[in-house]
Amino acid sequence: MEITICIGSSCHLKGSQDVIRILERLVSYHHLENKVTLKGSFCMGECTSDGVCVDVDGKHFKLFPSEVESFFNREVLEKV
Ligand code: FES
Repeated sequence: MEITICIGSSCHLKGSQDVIRILERLVSYHHLENKVTLKGSFCMGECTSDGVCVDVDGKHFKLFPSEVESFFNREVLEKV
């Protein structure tokens, strides 16, 4: 599974560094380093106020740092 997090300037202001840090911690906590790849991307062309752009195997999400853990449980843990 590949998770791409936007690090463009608009998403950066919405907390993309925190989103990445939380995802890294969750991947490591669940020992998923061999199954989940985290990548950064420049602006994904979908800047909105709804959160940081995150793409999971081609599926788009908008996340604030506070939503990352429930997102991870729902979209990653249940699917890997
Ligand atoms: S900066 Fe993230 S979609 Fe544009």
